[in-house]
Order: sequence, then structure tokens, then C-alpha cells
Amino acid sequence: MSITSNHHQSVMFDESIEGLNIKNGGIYIDATFGRGGHTQGILDKLDDSGSVIAFDQDIHAVEYARENFNDDRLTVIHSAFTHMGKILSERNLSGKIDGILMDLGVSSPQLDNAQRGFSFNADGPLDMRMDQTSGISAAQWLEKADAVEIANVLYEFGEEKRSRHIASAIKHYQQDKTITTTLQLANIITSVVKSHKNKHPATRSFQAIRIFINQELRQLTKTLDQTIDLLAPEGRLSIISFHSIEDRIVKQFIQRYSKQKQLPKGLPIMDSGTEQTLFKNLGKQFASKAEVSINKRSRSAILRIAKRTTLEAQTC
Ligand SMILES: C[S@@+](CC[C@H](N)C(=O)[O-])C[C@H]1O[C@@H](n2cnc3c(N)ncnc32)[C@H](O)[C@@H]1O
Repeated sequence: MSITSNHHQSVMFDESIEGLNIKNGGIYIDATFGRGGHTQGILDKLDDSGSVIAFDQDIHAVEYARENFNDDRLTVIHSAFTHMGKILSERNLSGKIDGILMDLGVSSPQLDNAQRGFSFNADGPLDMRMDQTSGISAAQWLEKADAVEIANVLYEFGEEKRSRHIASAIKHYQQDKTITTTLQLANIITSVVKSHKNKHPATRSFQAIRIFINQELRQLTKTLDQTIDLLAPEGRLSIISFHSIEDRIVKQFIQRYSKQKQLPKGLPIMDSGTEQTLFKNLGKQFASKAEVSINKRSRSAILRIAKRTTLEAQTC
């Protein structure tokens, strides 16, 4: 049965908005609009002279925003967040952004609508693209990829130990039939993977294929790099991720730029540029027990907050 929902319960809402340290007249970016829960939270804390620019690569999210948000302080852009550096610098906003919020992954409306192809529980076309206006669907990719490529994706992005077995089961199935639906794929996976700790056997594979199809990790890495030039001094990063691979990228980015390089004792500092600290690491948080009890999705959420250093702090 196909369930279409427009509802998305924002994860770690208070903590992530708090992390932005919203100030009067500030310019904030919600890189992942979804159904606008976090955007609304930012707007509620902003005065009249502030503004929010929100991105989403899913046209349905953008249409939802246009139909349901009527606020002159808000601009919604249909684009992958990886283009934010270019888009914001064209608007002369480089170095002027006071906070960037990212609530990564897919939204409940995307997961709950079987027609989007993200769910292994409900049958629908095997699509999995967040932006259905470009790229190829998961079904098209599985058709053209060989077993090695499929196994690598399942292992790299899903940490799926049975990756090779699943890949060869997929290729075996495709000798007679084409995989076009989510349940076809889920059933093939279930034929070679046992469920573990009540997790559906296809959980890891669906996550891996989704990450690959949407190039999620590459987009995240590229975008984090852009935040360095976009943020104003003291500007905040508030990033919620939902699995360890994604969180590792955020953690390593913040750590790389928040640590001063340790030079071996006695060595003179030749280039003060190598001593730059671009961010202050303000730590990580998990969803509270109370939130996890009412929103299962928050169980795996990790929020990381960092502050862009002031210009003075950068030069040692
Ligand atoms: C978890 S939901 C965000 C929910 C939102 N914070 C709320 O409270 O309603 C993630 C959203 O980000 C979008 N998204 C994910 N990756 C994106 C990217 N690279 N560029 C733009 N949007 C992206 C998805 O389409 C989805 O709508």
C-alpha cells in the first residue's frame, strides 16, 4: 500500500536551532528544507531584519515550501546544497552567513511515499533519487552495473558484509527478469541475508544504494569545504547526520580545521598560514531519551556544532 504523507517530525529541533545561536539581522541557511520544520524554527527566533535561504534538491519539498510558507524573510531554492557556494557568492553573501543548518538524509514524506522508491516495506518503482529531475534511478543503475560495482557500493556505503552474495543474487535474477520495483530488490536481498537485531535484511543495502544514487557523501564533503568561505566570523555550523559514515565526514572536517597543527618541538614556524584554526569545535550531541521514545528516527541522529573563528583568532 502506498502511504503519502506530508508530515516530517524535525529531529533534534531545539538542540540544532540552539546551536545556530540566532542573532538579530542574521542570515541563515537551511541546506535541507524537507518540510521546513527547522526553517520555521529559525524564522521564529529571527527578527524582521533577518533572513533564511533554504535549499532542497527535491522539487516536492520546494513546492511544499511555496504553498505553505508565506514569509518575506524566506527564500527557497531548488538545488542540491553542493551549489550553495556558487549561488550565495553570486548574491554577494560569501563571508556573511551567520549559520548553516544541515539535517542530512531523506525526509519522512520521501520515505513514506512508496512511489519514491526508498522503502523496502512498500512496493513502488525502484527510483531512490531525491532530485527526480536529474540523474539515474536505482533500477537503471542496477541494470547497467556489474556485480563487482554493486558489491563495492553495498560494502562502502552500507557496510554490508554480505555485499558479494547480494550482488551476485541480483545479477543472477537479472538473467531472466528486470528489477523495477522496491519489493523485487528487497526479496532478492532477503533470499541471501538473514535479519539481525530486528533489522530488515535490506536495511543496509537500501541505505547504500540511496547514498550512491544521490552521491550523498561526495555532496556533503564538497559542501563542508564551501562553508569555510561562506560563514561570517562567529558563524555556526549545526549538522545532524544519521549514520556513522556521514558523521565521520562531519567530525573529520571540524577536527581538521579546529586543531592547530602541532609542529615537532624546536622547529621554527616557517609559515603562520599552517597555524590557522578556522573553526572552534563546540562538540556533539545525541537525541534525548524522551525524543527517541516518540520519534524512532532520532535514535541514530548525531548533531555536531562548530563556530567559525574570528579573523583575529585565525592568525597566531
Ligand atoms: C531529513 S530531511 C530535512 C527535514 C527538515 N529539517 C525538516 O525539519 O522538515 C532532508 C531533506 O534534505 C534534502 N536533501 C538531502 N540531500 C540534499 C542535498 N545534497 N541538497 C539539497 N537537499 C538535500 C532531502 O531532499 C530532504 O528533503
